[in-house]
Amino acid sequence: MTSAGTDFPADGGDEALRAAHALAGAFLDSLPQRPVSRVPTPQEMALALDEALPETGGDPAAVVGEWFARAERGITASPGPRFFGFVNGGVTPAALAGDWLASAIDQNAGLWAGSPAAAQTELVVLRWLRELFGLPAAWEGALTSGATMANLVGLATARQWAGRRLGFDAAGDGLAGRPPIVVVASSEIHLSAVKCLGTLGFGRNQVRRVAARCGEVDLVALAGLLRGIDGPVILIGNAGEVNSGHFDDLAALADLRDGHPGGAWLHVDAAFGLFAAVSPRLAHLVRGIERADSLAADGHKWLNVPYDCGFAFVRDGALLREAFAVGGAYVAGGAGWDPFTHVPEMSRRFRGLAAWCALKAYGRAGYRALVERCVDNAAAFARWVEATPGVELMNPAPLNIVCFRFVGAGLDGSANDELNRAAVRTIQADGRAFVTGTVWQGRAAIRAAFDNWRTTAADVGLLQDAVAQAGASLSA
Ligand SMILES: Cc1ncc(COP(=O)(O)O)c(C=O)c1O
Repeated sequence: MTSAGTDFPADGGDEALRAAHALAGAFLDSLPQRPVSRVPTPQEMALALDEALPETGGDPAAVVGEWFARAERGITASPGPRFFGFVNGGVTPAALAGDWLASAIDQNAGLWAGSPAAAQTELVVLRWLRELFGLPAAWEGALTSGATMANLVGLATARQWAGRRLGFDAAGDGLAGRPPIVVVASSEIHLSAVKCLGTLGFGRNQVRRVAARCGEVDLVALAGLLRGIDGPVILIGNAGEVNSGHFDDLAALADLRDGHPGGAWLHVDAAFGLFAAVSPRLAHLVRGIERADSLAADGHKWLNVPYDCGFAFVRDGALLREAFAVGGAYVAGGAGWDPFTHVPEMSRRFRGLAAWCALKAYGRAGYRALVERCVDNAAAFARWVEATPGVELMNPAPLNIVCFRFVGAGLDGSANDELNRAAVRTIQADGRAFVTGTVWQGRAAIRAAFDNWRTTAADVGLLQDAVAQAGASLSA
């Protein structure tokens, strides 16, 4: 127990860890039965958790237990088998063990001197990821907090390249007063890449968007747009569009990049789509990705490591360092690889350990099996949608995202949109399966994403039951 103004207590560590272990074990054991969400209101959560800063402390084991009890209504079963919302993975046992150890040994993975073990582990993870996805061995990169930051790393390097083409150092001197750098993407560019364009000074509203029927960019329209642009262009491709799971033709994008007279840089957002590369059945979807200049992907999605983890790769490591390396006497002179010269942050979490443990424990064969199982689950659900009256598939599902909607008899467009928004709320409140809503090609829709190692065919059956029941109750 702490008392005000006395020494900082260092005891209670073992008991607190045992308490956290017991809570975590019970939570993980409950995942197969646990409601996916209890959909609490913000008021309920504030009532459960909000309070003034404690003036004096408490026993760490009791504190961790208290938090769990008070927060539990707002803890989703997102690592569980029936959470199909957004694109969430689920942490595997090996990754979880690695992540816990990373917290316990508390290494600063920002620079070599902070932790040679963390830096070297990250280099090995990057090597294994290149090998897993068949990417060129010479590509350099870094782990990030997710695909958004991986997009930022790729696009910052692209900005550096474009600045050099136009005769200036973008990271060093900024963009003010310089010729504009043109960014081109499909209309289905992910919002995270748009966020990055704002952060990097390109402007969120400046991206030139090309139509993407069914989620795949229209190559004829894209070629036409490029013909009208003189200078260098940053081209952003999608490998796995978030609503439909569709892919741009990456080889064709690389050809357009090669043929652009002013020079072009191809950045690919492959947050989850990159995982198609691990299966010979699916690898055609990412054909040409090895010709990209930079690419972004997620670890906390299909690698099934815990939040947060993503990774970025670029072809030209020197340009990457130009974008991020800054001198500083107090951090100079690491004998080995300094991750902070490759990413926006300096101090960083040791994410590499969870990824190392997962890749070591499951290997290439394990990830191929995981990806193929998820894709089979998605295909089974898509077939069920097609065979079920009152629901329709909004897009063919090439990978792991199924986009569908209810079609109410006699409803006009906006009433039908409202039906689908209500269906999402009903399914979420039911608690058996978590799906999320979206708008696809102008119509309200529902998405189910399959990228969790725990999901079985029986879980897909429960999803189908929850969707069917929501449809029946809404039409009643
Ligand atoms: C295609 C795509 N890109 C980027 C992101 C952003 O990823 P993160 O939330 O890990 O930053 C996502 C997330 O769903 C995505 O699907």
